[in-house]
Amino acid sequence: MGESGLGREREPSVMVEVHVQPGDAQRALRAEVLAGLCGERQPRELSPKWLYDERGSQLFDEITRLPEYYPTRREREILLAHAGEVVRASGADTLVELGSGSSEKTRLLLDAMRGTGQLRRFVPFDVSEAFLRQAARGVAREYPGLPVHAVVGDFERHLGRLPAGGRRLVAFLGGTIGNLKPAERARFYAELAAGLAPGEGLLLGTDLLKCRERLFAAYNDSAGVTAAFNRNVLSVLNRELGADFEPGCFEHLAPFDEENGWVEMRLISTRPQAVRLPALERYVNFAEGEVLRTEVSCKFRPEQVEAELSAAGLRLVERWTDAAGDFALSLALKR
Ligand code: SAH
Ligand code: AVI
Repeated sequence: MGESGLGREREPSVMVEVHVQPGDAQRALRAEVLAGLCGERQPRELSPKWLYDERGSQLFDEITRLPEYYPTRREREILLAHAGEVVRASGADTLVELGSGSSEKTRLLLDAMRGTGQLRRFVPFDVSEAFLRQAARGVAREYPGLPVHAVVGDFERHLGRLPAGGRRLVAFLGGTIGNLKPAERARFYAELAAGLAPGEGLLLGTDLLKCRERLFAAYNDSAGVTAAFNRNVLSVLNRELGADFEPGCFEHLAPFDEENGWVEMRLISTRPQAVRLPALERYVNFAEGEVLRTEVSCKFRPEQVEAELSAAGLRLVERWTDAAGDFALSLALKR
């Protein structure tokens, strides 16, 4: 079977389709570590998707409840006020959710769809398999009779495999689009748009530009949960590659980069150190103060979001923001 030769299996009322087998993830991680950590690239860098093993997904959920981390609360506020309008304007009967995580806010959309008798199917899509399975079962339990078709996939590689059928609204919430850099975003929008039928839609959550103090507080929280989330990627490397990173020897820092318009999560080596990577038969040396970038989180102007969507053939139909103007939800339909 090829990489997406599917494990298709049934759990109680949840179908799970697997496009990322553990072996594929291992190979992809090795290739990335070779290029992004062992190569010449500066700063050293890893894709943020490696942050989300089961522990990382739990830590992210904890982040969403921190007083400093406003995006989740703001997006929930928007959904509470406007989910009904979203559902009417989209005309969708199938909700697909990319990077679905716990699908907690998504229930507001599911409720609105169910309320109008329009809800036919839910398709949560995430790279983090164990967490996805658990979240999908939770939705299936809460919405008896709702077919839940979970997809374990990478939204940078497997958008072409989104299940067809029904009239789909693809929700991409939380501001996760901001974890893609501009060129990656353009590719993402183009691939998504290519797979949608005219009239199908994207509901996109984006965090908006704001003062750097609030951004700093949100990504450098006082309880240290974001620091633990960031350092957890080193435990992923230890487990998956047999590496011997000492998470305590890296500091978390997430400053706002004005020029790029993104917050950037860094792990900074607190001393000179050599880390073993047995799976790659390599060592990687870190100088004191050397940076490993683990995530960017882009902050947007609303017009920028509209322009990027439009360039991919996705026409903005409506945009909603929270009362404070911190976060935006945009509904765009395929032309
Ligand atoms: N949508 C939720 C969760 C956001 S956290 C919310 O709004 O709270 C980001 C989610 O995207 C995680 O569940 C993570 O596992 C998933 N994710 C990150 N990179 C991914 C990728 N390349 N493909 C698919 N899912 C990804
Ligand atoms: C999932 N994503 C939108 C979060 C963000 O805000 O960029 C991940 C995160 N990183 C640090 N805190 C939260």
